This record gives sequence, C-alpha cells and structure tokens, in this order.
Amino acid sequence: MERTLSIIKPDGVKRGLIGEVVRMLEQNNLDIVAMKMLHMTKKQAEGFYAVHRERPFFESLTDFMSSGPAIVMVLEGDNAITRYRDLMGATDCREAAEGTIRKAFATDIEQNVVHGSDAPETASFEIAYFFNRFEIIR
Ligand code: CMP
Repeated sequence: MERTLSIIKPDGVKRGLIGEVVRMLEQNNLDIVAMKMLHMTKKQAEGFYAVHRERPFFESLTDFMSSGPAIVMVLEGDNAITRYRDLMGATDCREAAEGTIRKAFATDIEQNVVHGSDAPETASFEIAYFFNRFEIIR
C-alpha cells in the first residue's frame, strides 16, 4: 500500500470538475483516505512548490495556485503514486494520453486541473504539508 497527494487545482474547482475527477479516482481504485477544501495563500503555494523556486513559471504557478479554492486529498492503493500519475496524464495536456484526466479536462500546461506527487519522498512531504495523522483515515 502506498499513499500519494492529489490536488484538484483552482481551475478544476472553478470549472465544476470536482465530481468528474473524484469519479475517475474511484473508478481506478485509488482510495480517498483524506480530503478537504482550502484556499492557499501565496506563501503556502510557494512552500508547497519550493522545489520549483528557480523555474521561470514559479511566480505564475504560485499566483494560480493561490487564486481560489482547491481540493487536497490523500489517495491510497497499490502503487498509488505511479497509478495516479498515469491517470493524470502528462503535465502538458497536449501530450496527455487518451483516457487521462488532463486529456479530458486540462486547457493549459499550468492550469492542468490536477497535481500528484512524483515519488515516495515528495508524497511524504506533500501529505504532511496539508494533513496531520488524525485527518487521514485507517
Ligand atoms: P504540477 O504537476 O502541479 O507540478 C508543477 C506545476 O507547474 C505543473 O503541474 C504545472 O501546473 C506547472 N508547470 C509545469 N511546467 C510548466 C511550464 N513549462 N509552464 C508553466 N507551468 C508549468
């Protein structure tokens, strides 16, 4: 069993895609073991994406991520990190495969509806960034 952090980004919430994304998670046996809605401050977004601090898109990304409410979830399942990344599809939606969340819904390389942790170490950091152990079931 593995856990990963999922975010439905502000574009996904604004466009009414919470249900669609959750349905795809459920259909793919990624169990939701924690979930909440929050509106990140600019500082919270900067801390979350600290690894991207030097990237040219950091300013715009953290503005976007703090522009409205998002849904943060902890997903659990066998090989959950890789399975969820496969379900999301490529960061750039023009490269996303058929059947993926980003192929279906994303409009832009930045406003790409969802986020998922990319490795076990980042998953631990990202889960702890938003949830304490009493907020995660099991
Ligand atoms: P995410 O999977 O959350 O990880 C970092 C985010 O930065 C990514 O999704 C996009 O929202 C954004 N991002 C990545 N690459 C670019 C890029 N080249 N231009 C703009 N935004 C990007």
